[in-house]
Amino acid sequence: MNQYNFPTIILSGQGSLKEFVNRLKSKSHQRILVVTDETLKACGLLDNLTSLLTDAMVDFNVFSEIHPNPVESDIKKGTAVFKETQCDSIIALGGGSPMDAAKAIKIMAVHPSPLAQYDDARGGDQLITKPMPPLYAIPTTAGTGSEVGRSAVIISSTTGKKAIFFHPDLIPDIAVLEPELTVGLPPHITAATGIDAFVHSLEAYFSPGLHPMADGIALQGIELVLDWLPRAVDDGQNLDARERMLIAAAMGATAFQKGLGMIHSLAHPLSSRYNMHHGLANALFLPAGIAFIEASDLNTDQMSRIDRVRSLFEKRWPGSESLSQSSKQFVEHLGIQFGLSAHGIKEEDLEALSREAFEDPCHKTNMISVDRQDLLSVYKAAL
Ligand SMILES: [Fe+2]
Repeated sequence: MNQYNFPTIILSGQGSLKEFVNRLKSKSHQRILVVTDETLKACGLLDNLTSLLTDAMVDFNVFSEIHPNPVESDIKKGTAVFKETQCDSIIALGGGSPMDAAKAIKIMAVHPSPLAQYDDARGGDQLITKPMPPLYAIPTTAGTGSEVGRSAVIISSTTGKKAIFFHPDLIPDIAVLEPELTVGLPPHITAATGIDAFVHSLEAYFSPGLHPMADGIALQGIELVLDWLPRAVDDGQNLDARERMLIAAAMGATAFQKGLGMIHSLAHPLSSRYNMHHGLANALFLPAGIAFIEASDLNTDQMSRIDRVRSLFEKRWPGSESLSQSSKQFVEHLGIQFGLSAHGIKEEDLEALSREAFEDPCHKTNMISVDRQDLLSVYKAAL
């Protein structure tokens, strides 16, 4: 038996932010907590939302004290503001961090402390039982797809490690994909976040398990990235490209309920140890990770999946001999420099990285099972 989950209401395209605020008016919320971060406040993106809320006479309060990787104390502060200012709903505006923080505040708004007891690794989802305040999500990057996701990652104050909080009710009630909000992203962030969306779809399509619905979404997500990410990188003002990349990111996150793979496990330690951008880390392992899979002993279904994705590349840029080669050319075209060593990683770091990557759960749904030595070999190949 399988359970398939598909997203919530998605408002997409130019004008979707305005339409969202119009819809809010009819919901009669008492006060909304807008969860964002200092960067978005400073660059003025927050004003796009708050001016519309003010014009519509929707009462709100802004909470922006969130670390780039949200920590437990951020959630405590945000929850206190939510309660003290008598909010009854939440808007998350930003990239993955405000989204994660908003989901954790949503839990803590109505459940007793401490947050740690709701850690998914401890079966904490069973304790998330009360009706929670509505959550609306407005992404300002096109990558994580967290606006259609059901989990949040928060750094524990006791262990200093990332804890994952998961519950089906954490999915935002409305996701707003407003391309205007992403036009200011610089090319290298556009490229890195877009590759994250690509790898979500790719690893979901490659992961084992019967999920033809996720497979279909993943393939279309891959095509969108191949067609539109280069245009979004070349011209950040291209609203058609920005819109399609936001959709591709939401599709990638929808598809990866089927599973991710070894590329994400290899990438995660680079972010936790070296603070590397998650999308960039994925990009650095994309060709080496695919080459490892291509060189493995594959069954007919696995080979046909690789061939199917290769054909999507081939239609656009003919001439590559393998999917790993096509993906390398694609990433290079986006201006990303390959080689872990070019990004400050040394050969002596790889053993420890491979241990951490093996502890990461994503590789458990890789197309083929891998051990620590396999992960180490891909780190070496990507050096
Ligand atoms: Fe990712």
